[in-house]
Amino acid sequence: MTTSRRHYHITTFGCQMNKADSERMAGILEDMGFEWSEDPNQADVILYNTCTIRDNAEQKVYSYLGRQAKRKHEQPDLTLIVAGCVAQQEGEALLRRVPELDLVMGPQHANRLQDLLQQVFDGNQVVATEPIHIIEDITKPRRDSKVTAWVNVIYGCNERCTYCVVPNVRGVEQSRTPEAIRSEMEELGRQGYKEVTLLGQNIDAYGRDLPGVTPEGRHQHTLTDLLYYVHDVPGVERIRFATSHPRYFTERLIRACAELPKVCEHFHIPFQSGDNEVLKRMARGYTHEKYRRIIKTIREYMPDAAISADAIVGFPGETEEQFENTLKLVEDIGFDQLNTAAYSPRPGTPAAVWENQLSEEVKSDRLHRLNHLVATIAAERSQRYMGRLEEVLVEDQNPKDKTQVMGRTRTNRLTFFTGDINELKGKLVKVRISEVRAFSLTGEPVEVREVVSV
Ligand code: SAH
Ligand code: SF4
Ligand code: F3S
Repeated sequence: MTTSRRHYHITTFGCQMNKADSERMAGILEDMGFEWSEDPNQADVILYNTCTIRDNAEQKVYSYLGRQAKRKHEQPDLTLIVAGCVAQQEGEALLRRVPELDLVMGPQHANRLQDLLQQVFDGNQVVATEPIHIIEDITKPRRDSKVTAWVNVIYGCNERCTYCVVPNVRGVEQSRTPEAIRSEMEELGRQGYKEVTLLGQNIDAYGRDLPGVTPEGRHQHTLTDLLYYVHDVPGVERIRFATSHPRYFTERLIRACAELPKVCEHFHIPFQSGDNEVLKRMARGYTHEKYRRIIKTIREYMPDAAISADAIVGFPGETEEQFENTLKLVEDIGFDQLNTAAYSPRPGTPAAVWENQLSEEVKSDRLHRLNHLVATIAAERSQRYMGRLEEVLVEDQNPKDKTQVMGRTRTNRLTFFTGDINELKGKLVKVRISEVRAFSLTGEPVEVREVVSV
């Protein structure tokens, strides 16, 4: 054994919520004296932060785990951790499947990593999956970026979409206080972060669990109020939020986004299906007409706003005609981006045991057709950028061309242009767009904006 410092490695699967949790867990490990190792095979502590949204996401974890479990036989002091949504879903069953594991911890326990690891180092095999009140985050996350950051706003989900495991694995909604959110953002501003994405499974449901109602009878703390409250945080130049649920997306929120200059004109609002009968069986709580009205209102206030969403094809019982209603919605709205997925039956969800499941062939055929339409429409949407001057926040070097840097427009289009990352990282640059592709743009830098903090 060498006396060098102990190393850790984290592999993260799944959504932004998991990525944010991983950054906080990495922060805890660094506080404990561990050093990051890019290569899992060089690490003494390996943490898989897992996703179970679809079966293929879950299976990926088992193949990674199998490899490390073998390694543990040669290196018994290796610590193996499974965190996140598979951990929560499987709990002790994971230990039976992979007895080499030291720690199985659900997403609500992320901030407790130090305490749980201590129990492991004391010689225990630990499972932490009981629902808890999420402790306020006092650790410093180890953030992947120095320019953009995630800030959790609401944990959990109170919906019961019939296909979805998230409520089972993430627990009930827990909103952080506006003060805690603002103070995290102020710290980010001081550290030089330029963009903050506020995070929640249903971020527009923020505040329902916090005390206080207004004289008009609405909750005192809503996402709209939060945006007004955090908007003037010094240093933070851009604010985004995700994911929004159509059920809670109000005109008041849209007006706030239009009014507040730092809030970017990009909205991620999953619709899942363009057919009312399917939406009803999914228990989504809205119709496609309502969804269309939301987008219309957004565009009335912000004509250039980018719209992205998630959609599922091949939900149990979905007919060809119902699927075509999804195609029609996609065509009518003109999405800038769409995350698509074939329905995957998940254990513990109602739709998984319905008898009207569709064949894999039908699902993959529909996915293919939808993806084709999405690419065509995104390419059309990209055309509007041609020749325009766009503000790009530079995040990184283009990994495929070191002479270029990359960043995003306010509307979230990935944009490349020639420049030196050392000079431009974290800068807002006006870029003249000269090339457009379905999901990215290329341009020429025109002017670097000097940011004077308010
Ligand atoms: N809270 C967000 C989405 C969370 S999950 C919302 O309600 O919109 C992210 C996406 O995964 C969902 O939008 C959905 O499109 C997809 N998804 C969830 N469960 C799925 C399943 N069983 N099969 C296929 N896709 C699924
Ligand atoms: Fe899942 Fe529905 Fe909750 Fe989104 S709103 S996380 S799809 S249950
Ligand atoms: Fe996956 Fe859990 Fe997110 S299941 S999508 S990592 S909430």
